[in-house]
Amino acid sequence: MMPTRVYEKHNFESSLSGLKISSCGKQIPTSPVPLRSLAQRRGIGIGTAVKMQAFYSDAQYRKVLAHEFNVLTPENALKFGRLSLKRDRYSFKDADALIAFAEKHQMQVHGHTLVWYRNLPEWLTQGRWSRAELIAILQQHIDKVVSRYRGRIAVWDVVNEAIENDGSLRDSIWLRGIGPEYIAMAFRWAHKADPQALLLYNDYRSEEMNRKSEAVYQLVRTLKQQGIPIHAVGWQMHKGIKEPPDFQQIKANMQRLNNLGVEVQITEMDVGIYSGQGTYTEKLAAQADIYRDVMTICLESESCSAFITWGLADHHSWRPAFFGHPDAPLLFDKRYQPKPAYEALIDVLHK
Ligand code: XIL
Repeated sequence: MMPTRVYEKHNFESSLSGLKISSCGKQIPTSPVPLRSLAQRRGIGIGTAVKMQAFYSDAQYRKVLAHEFNVLTPENALKFGRLSLKRDRYSFKDADALIAFAEKHQMQVHGHTLVWYRNLPEWLTQGRWSRAELIAILQQHIDKVVSRYRGRIAVWDVVNEAIENDGSLRDSIWLRGIGPEYIAMAFRWAHKADPQALLLYNDYRSEEMNRKSEAVYQLVRTLKQQGIPIHAVGWQMHKGIKEPPDFQQIKANMQRLNNLGVEVQITEMDVGIYSGQGTYTEKLAAQADIYRDVMTICLESESCSAFITWGLADHHSWRPAFFGHPDAPLLFDKRYQPKPAYEALIDVLHK
């Protein structure tokens, strides 16, 4: 059975006036009605990925986080390599801190991620394991983490980036050591550990119509046919203004996933401006258009239940370190001023 949606459409908040910024501390020059109130009225979650360093050290970061968003994704704190430095030894300190914060501020936690080919502990990647041992390791990991947060982490990216751009299954320790059935196993174990959690398959470059999204579609269809508990597809949506997405294709893909009976969540959105054309102002406008159009598609779809950005303000983005150049891909600038992309989301959520 499908878990109930965390954000029911038409679940209006009784009063928006109670959500103004608290009088203590500095005023943040964002919309008088924050994103999260508008998103909740429209029946979707709005979230961001959270970086530990900023979370621990920057009070303004925490303030904007709680004020604007009602979904929180730990950016790295729940990854296998962060949780388990030694075999059978886990440290949940960072994840616990984030989840406590989320609960205090009535935010939903999006768990990222249980099974990935990257960010694995060294004890795992350096070891030699039989198939049975690898199955036991993965099962114990999923059971330990999902059970610990049962009822507190509402959504899990169970399997992340298991498909290549050409549609084949990605080479990984899991595929090599267990075989393609590791995917179905992971969903079963996660569901057993928390039957209420919404379980996602999450990937990038899979929102338009291409070989990868076709493979994701076929994977979900097959899993559903086999009775595997998969409830949603996550589209990361790391985009750039240089190659704006094809919105007709995104709509068509959303529709076919909807027809399979799964939800879609935008799980890691950012829009790079580095290699785009025009002045800085023009680039920010082009960026805002992409955010607006993706949010519009999400709001129009029956199946889109959350919209999450990969980082809060530009100086938190993973992109400069990963792609090797500066960028400004998020909704807030490095002084936490809202950018045109923020205003675009406010605008479209208001309509
Ligand atoms: C990235 C983080 O943002 C970085 O801080 C970390 O060093 C590497 O991972 N797709 C994913 C995320 O699913 O987990 C990645 O996060 C970004 C791409």
